[in-house]
Amino acid sequence: MSSSDLPKVVEPTCAVPRLLEGQKALVTGASSGIGRAVAVALGQAGADVVVNWVSGEDAAEEVVHEIGAAGARAYAYRADITSEEDVAAMFAKMLQDFGGIDILVNNAGIQKDAPIHEMTLEQWNKVISVNLTGQFLCAREAIREFRRRGVVTDVSCAAGKIIFMSSVHETIPWAGHVNYAASKGGAMLMMKSIAQEVASQRIRVNGIAPGAIKTPINESAWKTPEALDALLKLIPYKRIGLPEDVARVAAWLASDQADYLTGTTVVVDGGMMLYPGFSEGG
Ligand code: BGC
Repeated sequence: MSSSDLPKVVEPTCAVPRLLEGQKALVTGASSGIGRAVAVALGQAGADVVVNWVSGEDAAEEVVHEIGAAGARAYAYRADITSEEDVAAMFAKMLQDFGGIDILVNNAGIQKDAPIHEMTLEQWNKVISVNLTGQFLCAREAIREFRRRGVVTDVSCAAGKIIFMSSVHETIPWAGHVNYAASKGGAMLMMKSIAQEVASQRIRVNGIAPGAIKTPINESAWKTPEALDALLKLIPYKRIGLPEDVARVAAWLASDQADYLTGTTVVVDGGMMLYPGFSEGG
């Protein structure tokens, strides 16, 4: 099928329903990309939001402003999620300022790509420490507070919700990105193991696996028409994802609409995981 036979790309413009009224959320890595869109969507859904950032202070303040315009409270907080002290201080401040936490979106993530024979230990360690250890440190802190407080029925059916921002590469092997794929595969089993451990305390833990979403992390894959063309061969739905595609799912997954979901990954990828190479072969 040539691209002229395909229907026109239409991107959704749906509003986020106010499913999180009265809830308090923390989104890590919220100054850009998917994290930014998730923080804004949670605010639009009615939640107060802590906008965690590690670089990009002005951008984080813009996110705070956008959430304020949606009628929710927000503030930006600089913390390196790989630091145990930073994470503890970030949670302590949130509990003091917002009086609690209902939703953690473990979003912050990085890529440091290299062929395996050239990958440095530093590249390996950096990706594992942000994408895996950082997610552990934040999840642990949130769970301590969810367990201490328990369910508050006026707020939510659950004592707390955690969303791990994963990737289709928790499943799809990715040559040249071994550290990243290992971190996402690891985060997926961390998510499921934590979900199993805390389900009886009414804490829901899930993941979202985005495919190719138009953000700075993968700019080289969509910036030129040639790159975008090559990328679209991997996406049956034939459009690149937008951060808002993921953000709407996050707001829903954090809400009581999704109360019976725990330990699962919601894949948001335009069909990238459908083995598109087989649509005309095999
Ligand atoms: C990566 C992107 C990539 C996408 C699909 C994401 O997890 O961060 O760089 O485009 O997966 O391969």
